[in-house]
Amino acid sequence: MAQFEEGTTLDRFLLETTREHPEASGQFVTLLKQVALAGKLVSARVNRAGLAGMFGATGSMNIQGEYVQKMDLYANETFKGALEHAGVVCMMVSEEEEAPIFVPDRFRHGNYIFCMDPLDGSSNIDTNATIGTIFCVFRRCSGGDGRGDPSDALRSGREIVAAGYIVYGAGTVLVLSTGEGVHGFTLDPTVGEFFLSHSDIRLGEKTRSYSCNEAYSAQWDPRLRAWLDKVKEPSLGWSARYIGSLVGDFHRNLVKGGVFLYPPTAKTPNGKLRLLYEAFPLAYLVENAGGAASDGTMAILDKVPGSIHERTALFIGDRDNVEEIVRALRG
Ligand code: AHG
Ligand code: MN
Ligand code: MN
Repeated sequence: MAQFEEGTTLDRFLLETTREHPEASGQFVTLLKQVALAGKLVSARVNRAGLAGMFGATGSMNIQGEYVQKMDLYANETFKGALEHAGVVCMMVSEEEEAPIFVPDRFRHGNYIFCMDPLDGSSNIDTNATIGTIFCVFRRCSGGDGRGDPSDALRSGREIVAAGYIVYGAGTVLVLSTGEGVHGFTLDPTVGEFFLSHSDIRLGEKTRSYSCNEAYSAQWDPRLRAWLDKVKEPSLGWSARYIGSLVGDFHRNLVKGGVFLYPPTAKTPNGKLRLLYEAFPLAYLVENAGGAASDGTMAILDKVPGSIHERTALFIGDRDNVEEIVRALRG
């Protein structure tokens, strides 16, 4: 792949990387540009949420039984609108919608399926902590009529063709992979463009930082608790970081090194995080950055969801630590 200097615009990066793959249609570039556009709109709204009456919940619950925040709805509508009008998707899946999203007939010729958590960590919005949008992209099933058959989205993570997230933190950063490395682009809000800021991100080896909600550890598999007790030995020099926003915790670990854990608990015996639009995209990124993601028994990307909102346990980060956790769980 061509080398790009820092400061390259996202548009130039997309045009030049896909030029190297003549089989990639213009639709693919358009899709990723529309994701960036929606990300800019959500970023602008997040920045002034306290002024725009966007704090707090809507009062309703989503299909997962979780309270929907006002920003969840805004992000969902913004990404949906940006993608369906571009005619690049035949179907979408969103955390906020029970069924796959039916794209209006006149736009349904799109070649891609887009799966998203429009706003991850949205309970953090009122506290100004990091939140983000997580997404992955599949090619339309050959022979599929794009009528929104849910099974079209129930595919192995190995079929993903692009994945990423946009993290709305101290700055707004789009992290993207189309299968050749993982690259980060920072939004310059003064000109409204994403510029390459983190070229070819690689995960460090055997990093010494963990991210998990340790308050639940009494509910974990005792073998996992034993692993955690072991790494707390002071001479090993571990530390912990947890925001409670998967995308924020993952981004920190991708840049600085670390392993994220969300094991099954008594309340969520199959794990809390969603396979299709939380675990899949981050697993795709982590593998492309040299790391690993597992549910404790198998690689996340080898899984095939049985339903669009299926949950999974997630252990994700540098390969050494993820493998060690999996070995401990086999124990
Ligand atoms: P969402 O805001 O999309 O519903 O996701 C929240 C998730 C995830 O971001 C985070 O890692 C996890 O919930 C935190 O859960 P706990 O509060 O149980 O630690
Ligand atoms: Mn989420
Ligand atoms: Mn969400």
